[in-house]
Amino acid sequence: MSEWKIEIERCPEDRRQPIPTDGSKLGFGRLFTDHYFRCRFDREHGWHDAKIVPRTALDLDPAAMVLHYGLEVFEGLKAYRAEGDSVHLFRWRKNAERLQRSAARLEMEAPPVELFGAGVRALVELEKDWVPKAEGCSLYIRPTLVASDPFLGVRPADEFLFYVLCSPVGAYYATGFQPTRILVEEHDVRAVEGGTGEAKTGGNYAASLRAQRKAKEAGYTQVLWLDAKEHRYVEEVGTSNIFFEIDGKVITPPLGGTILPGVTRDSVLQLLKHWDVPVSEERITIDEVLKASEEGRLGEAFGTGTAAVISPVGVLGYRGRDIRIHDEKVGPLSQRLYDALTGIQYQREPDPFEWTEKVC
Ligand code: COI
Repeated sequence: MSEWKIEIERCPEDRRQPIPTDGSKLGFGRLFTDHYFRCRFDREHGWHDAKIVPRTALDLDPAAMVLHYGLEVFEGLKAYRAEGDSVHLFRWRKNAERLQRSAARLEMEAPPVELFGAGVRALVELEKDWVPKAEGCSLYIRPTLVASDPFLGVRPADEFLFYVLCSPVGAYYATGFQPTRILVEEHDVRAVEGGTGEAKTGGNYAASLRAQRKAKEAGYTQVLWLDAKEHRYVEEVGTSNIFFEIDGKVITPPLGGTILPGVTRDSVLQLLKHWDVPVSEERITIDEVLKASEEGRLGEAFGTGTAAVISPVGVLGYRGRDIRIHDEKVGPLSQRLYDALTGIQYQREPDPFEWTEKVC
């Protein structure tokens, strides 16, 4: 039992939205449930005022520090409906812990892990009818922490608002579980050593949009980021971590401060080790990837993320050339990982790692 008391103010029936029944039309992140969870922090009271309330516009001063200095960090996790209609969260503690690390990087105060968990669980339980039934669909949960002090000086904040939204979603990419086309970005960078790359903060995503727009205009799904110093080492894809299978070994760049420590990344590493697939976290240059492709040693490449799950890479665009990977088809390793992960998430398969937790 959690020590956190959460008051619930229910949305009046006549203000509730119809719950969508067609999972194929959900897309990603456009629709939100009727309620959200929120609580506040100030130096005098600590974390307090934990409530689930009808979703309306935020009560936030226009001088709030988040609006001026980008003092915002967030998370993304999902609740899944299993056969028999029970609802389960996947590794929520990892998200709560990462929120703490992201917040610390921006000198922000994160909610305690147990408060994060209590808020998420209570909200998902209240909104359980919104957890989609359709295959490949889930309830995406977006915990968000913002600095709410009305203050224009530049200093760490003293007041925070933590809130959690829920959004029923289908696949992140409109094409679903299909190979993506990824453009290697050679000019813009996502993160520098000593910067905020490993924090899940809105500014990292804002700074990525120019490259993402250019990639889209050139016919690609997303960008692949290279390191900021030498523009050689592979870092991550726009919304996911990246893995390559070369000579039968699976390689992903190590977490060194510039890469987001993805929960799905960690789950994939654990699954691969569990299956005795050779795997290593090591730096790899884009030239090594291309050489492996030219020599027929690059088996597969795929991204991993909560929103994107496993997203196979079918094409890598680099310096005007398109490098095709696994004939632009979903490879066996991507498929096996996708099946294993979603099997655990939807309770179709045993959960040997104890990653899932039943909510209701
Ligand atoms: C996630 O995978 O949960 C993300 O946060 C990626 C993106 C939608 C921002």
